[in-house]
Amino acid sequence: MAASSDVGGVRRLARRTRRVVGRTRRRARQVVHRARGWTDRESAERWDRGDHPDLRRSELGSRFLDHRGRLVDKWLHYFPAYDRHFAPWRDGFVLPDGSRRPLRLLEIGVYHGGSLQLWRNYFGPDAVIAGVDIDPRCETIDDHDLMIRIGSQADPAFLRRVVEEMGGVDLVLDDGSHHAAHQRISFDTLYPLLSEGGLYVVEDLHTSYWTRYGGGLGRRGAFVEVAKQMVDDVNSWAHGHAPVVLPAGTSASEISFSDSMVVIRKAPPSVPRRDTRGTPSF
Ligand SMILES: C[S@@+](CC[C@H](N)C(=O)[O-])C[C@H]1O[C@@H](n2cnc3c(N)ncnc32)[C@H](O)[C@@H]1O
Repeated sequence: MAASSDVGGVRRLARRTRRVVGRTRRRARQVVHRARGWTDRESAERWDRGDHPDLRRSELGSRFLDHRGRLVDKWLHYFPAYDRHFAPWRDGFVLPDGSRRPLRLLEIGVYHGGSLQLWRNYFGPDAVIAGVDIDPRCETIDDHDLMIRIGSQADPAFLRRVVEEMGGVDLVLDDGSHHAAHQRISFDTLYPLLSEGGLYVVEDLHTSYWTRYGGGLGRRGAFVEVAKQMVDDVNSWAHGHAPVVLPAGTSASEISFSDSMVVIRKAPPSVPRRDTRGTPSF
């Protein structure tokens, strides 16, 4: 009896500690927000009304605002960034010789299926739109133009099977568990399978700073840290060392960081070239 009430007491204490830590973290974040001059309510109201200028100007953002299909759950500031990166592929993925073929997109994290519908709407009827999720309920999403497979993003064999079924992949969006270890397994598995010129996007990287997702500011292994290290791999021709984090035999030409998101462009290994034009001034 005494032992079970001790256990109950420890659990209560643990719950209370978690609540206090959570509250303290939220307050700390608010203090940082204020110190940086962010007017939380004003900004939130603008996003809520859908009249944030960037969102309204974004093709994908306006399609999101008009979306009446299955539930989609995205941070609104992603849309303008997506537009910048994805707009060139709305008529198909561009091959190195400049020709086009239907884009093949894989999203990790289907949830209610709304984001897959949004991608279909944006990329048109010819694109291959596929999603994976660990939640078996996603199998009930029976849209004939979506390919949904159930499994974990931490299972390389599963991911390889899905890509094989898709016939390859040009664009990966990781919006799954957001756990650092899972994000890394998916990246290490899928990046080598990505087409040259394709994009690998990892969303919700604010979780890279949160311990429950295996993150923390500057924490080794958090995906944002992995992506920072990749900068050295993009410039590897200059230092001559082996890639630090990119999977063997792969290269990247561009890494784009924005709030909570990193976009990595796969490219064949190359050494850049300088050239000159014009007449010397002195
Ligand atoms: C944030 S939701 C995805 C939202 C969706 N992409 C959207 O934009 O509407 C995250 C999804 O990841 C799924 N998930 C969690 N852990 C996973 C794992 N290990 N492998 C695959 N999916 C996972 C969850 O079941 C959930 O549906």
